[in-house]
Amino acid sequence: MLYVGVDLGTSAVKLLLMDAEGGIRKIVSREYPIYFPQPGWSEQNPEDWFAQTMEGLKELLDGCDKSQVAGISFGGQMHGLVILDKDDQVIRPALLWNDGRTYEECDYLNNVIGKETLSRYTANISFTGFTAPKLLWVKNKEPENFARIEKIMLPKDYIAYRLSGVHCTDVSDASGMLLFDVEHRCWSPEMLDICGVRPEQMAKIYESYEAVGTVLPSIAAELGISEQVKVVAGAGDNAAAAVGTGTVGDGMCNISLGTSGTIFISSEKFGVDKNNALHAFAHADGHYHLMGCMLSAASCNKWWMDGIVGTKDYAAEQKAIEKLGENHVFFLPYLMGERSPHNDPNARGTFIGMTMDTSRADMTQAVLEGVAFALRDSLEVARSLGIRIERTKICGGGAKSPLWRRIIANVMNLKVDGIESEEGPALGGAMLAAVACGEFASVEEAAAKIVKITGTVEPEPELVEKYEARYEQFRQIYPACRPLFEILK
Ligand code: XUL
Repeated sequence: MLYVGVDLGTSAVKLLLMDAEGGIRKIVSREYPIYFPQPGWSEQNPEDWFAQTMEGLKELLDGCDKSQVAGISFGGQMHGLVILDKDDQVIRPALLWNDGRTYEECDYLNNVIGKETLSRYTANISFTGFTAPKLLWVKNKEPENFARIEKIMLPKDYIAYRLSGVHCTDVSDASGMLLFDVEHRCWSPEMLDICGVRPEQMAKIYESYEAVGTVLPSIAAELGISEQVKVVAGAGDNAAAAVGTGTVGDGMCNISLGTSGTIFISSEKFGVDKNNALHAFAHADGHYHLMGCMLSAASCNKWWMDGIVGTKDYAAEQKAIEKLGENHVFFLPYLMGERSPHNDPNARGTFIGMTMDTSRADMTQAVLEGVAFALRDSLEVARSLGIRIERTKICGGGAKSPLWRRIIANVMNLKVDGIESEEGPALGGAMLAAVACGEFASVEEAAAKIVKITGTVEPEPELVEKYEARYEQFRQIYPACRPLFEILK
């Protein structure tokens, strides 16, 4: 049998075809635009996602034995707000996970409702990118749109809806809405009330590896597949990536270097850190996880390379980097504000420490190191909870750079395991589809059979020591800049 994984990302949708042994038969990718209507705002058109997913599916399935396709599932960019009216029309462009406009609504949720109350209801506090403050923003700033809302959904769930006609979501993605009682895996009636939302506007909740239905006859006909093909709930992209890298069960770690950067720690037990600096979410394997999320990771390097240096040859630029652990330039990677652990939508990208002998390579190195230092900030929160992490998997576009992997291994003092396929969310999506179709008994079994480690980057003691000193300097820069970011906003 064949399984399709759809990774609905921020810059593109990536589609992957996997066979029953976990072999990757084909991968295709389709881009769509992202709009920044005001500084710190970030939107996309759900119709673009669906159109490109359909085109991508046609290309993916072209030439394969379509009668073998058994299931389709997803990893999707999280937190985005998609709202539909009574005619199933999208009411306004989706507000994305890295949209920072909701600071007033966050302030209301965190300081009027109160962080303790939010944490009691949902295991989390409010961040600008989360879905509940977005709903409140629409309620406050676009009441005519709010009044028309019939269905509330997350980005990948819009695709599932268009494919199957079922208004569904999964536990991992629902966790990022701040409307979900993570511990008990159900909607929080109190949070729905706080946001002025009725239960019938919310999707039906599934575990990530459960089928929600089958493809609609019109979709089956358009793609040339059977009407029996299962549409499977899938997961938020980080939980899907964790499945695709075998980060399931207890105490495993995955770093994703995509548009966002995340550190994901799987756990068999539900747990919350006392400051809610890390997100406490449900995992796609039926358990839980903690996660730190930085809003700009590989996107900092892309901004620096494509936008500022003006090159597409990232490897050539990285070749010129020679002085690991000795760079005098630092970069704060907060180009879209920052989520974990600072929760500051006003934070901005910042270079500091340049002198007349600073080279382009030093600046490039500072960007790569700044992302690694910022990820370490989240790792330190996990360490402060007594969680011992010695090794991590790594995935996402940035993970393709051997230099960046080495920097991460040494800045974070972690063994970094490379895996055969770095297609995290797309592979994870296909694996969830395979579990739902009975190919594997559980997500853990699928991961054990499919995910293969190909090599490990070990931390180098001398470099770890140098980076320890650099990190101590790095962590003083943001607190010093914070009052300035407040003035510059
Ligand atoms: C996670 C988050 C991002 C998006 C990116 O909380 O906001 O990783 O899921 O697609």
